[in-house]
Amino acid sequence: MKKFKAGIIGTGYIGPAHIEALRRLGNVEVVAIAEATKEIAKKKARELGVPKSYGTYKELINDEEIDVVHNCTPNHLHYEINCAIIDAGKHVVSEKPLATTVAESADLVRRVRSKGVVHAVNFNYRYYPLVQHAAMMARNNECGRIFAVQGCYMQDWLLYDTDWNWRLEPQFAGKSRAMADIGSHWFDMIQFVLGQRIKRVFADLLTVHEYRKKPVKQVETFAGKTLNASECIPVKIDTEDYGQILIEFANGTKGMVCVSQVSAGRKNHIVFELNGTEKSVWWDQERPNELMLGLRNELNRHMLKDSILLHKEIADYAHYPAGHNEGYPSCVKNFCRNVYRYIDDPSGGVDFSTFDDGHNAVAVIEAIMQSAQTGKWISVEA
Ligand SMILES: NC(=O)c1ccc[n+]([C@@H]2O[C@H](COP(=O)([O-])OP(=O)(O)OC[C@H]3O[C@@H](n4cnc5c(N)ncnc54)[C@H](O)[C@@H]3O)[C@@H](O)[C@H]2O)c1
Repeated sequence: MKKFKAGIIGTGYIGPAHIEALRRLGNVEVVAIAEATKEIAKKKARELGVPKSYGTYKELINDEEIDVVHNCTPNHLHYEINCAIIDAGKHVVSEKPLATTVAESADLVRRVRSKGVVHAVNFNYRYYPLVQHAAMMARNNECGRIFAVQGCYMQDWLLYDTDWNWRLEPQFAGKSRAMADIGSHWFDMIQFVLGQRIKRVFADLLTVHEYRKKPVKQVETFAGKTLNASECIPVKIDTEDYGQILIEFANGTKGMVCVSQVSAGRKNHIVFELNGTEKSVWWDQERPNELMLGLRNELNRHMLKDSILLHKEIADYAHYPAGHNEGYPSCVKNFCRNVYRYIDDPSGGVDFSTFDDGHNAVAVIEAIMQSAQTGKWISVEA
């Protein structure tokens, strides 16, 4: 197994999750991080045990030792930094959403093709063992013909008007919030499980808080709960807190999903359900080691993650024995494993979410925004 050296740009919430996942692979050394300033970079490198730190992303990209660069910065920097990584001829692992407009994500797809670098987007929910198993069931027609899917992605961390994060400001996050930030995960996961692209959407969006209270000081992701309202200024909010979407897939399968960042009690409730002519299947990210099989004339089945019971093609997505729970950090590890395995030896084919998938998700979000504005079904133009 070849050894690789990686650099991570952005070390807020998700950057350290990439670092931890890479360290669990065994053949990847995280040699450098880059942050918004030299001071932050030095502090974070010390905390994360990374040897080199840079105060600009360009310095990290120009570091000749680095083979693969992970872009873990806020959304508005994805396009610019991904372009710089690709132009330097380095393999690129980007956080989602791939870009904030479909013109940018299409351009990134053109650029990776022309440079021939390996490209990946961290749609990590695909890589849970039982999501992979559900996808195998769908591909093998084990549910019969799947005619409908439902689901949701609901959180509560932006419930109050005092909750604040850069995601609330379109200049950092893009013109969609809940849909681009978390809906994009659901759209990627369901398309992967079904093996079908979304053809068109009908969207109804809601902004619960017309104004929010922005803290005078900067806030890290998910840290808003601890804020004091007296240190804030009012800001008009133009992006959606909540939305419900009707979907039609390329093969005619129907779908509906609810996406929310303001549903009290829901923490990271990403769920899907497949309804087939013989069986249903449903899965909940907060109980990721369980898959429910819904039957009409027999008792329902409750499948627990166990590599012996998983489809053998994907059994290696489980790393620990049955009964030993595997969660969010392990799906990021599986994503990174697949990407670096392909960089090492592409003969096994692409088994990870690429810039094509990232571009598709951006196109789905653009269609949703257009549908919400026009009140019409909108086709996805990827
Ligand atoms: N795949 C997932 O499950 C998942 C989860 C969370 C976030 N994300 C994505 O990851 C990205 C980052 O989100 P987050 O929650 O970690 O945000 P965050 O605000 O916690 O962290 C972003 C980091 O980027 C740094 N940064 C800002 N400008 C920079 C620059 N010019 N150069 C280098 N570093 C810079 C910030 O200082 C901060 O440390 C977002 O695009 C988000 O959508 C993905």
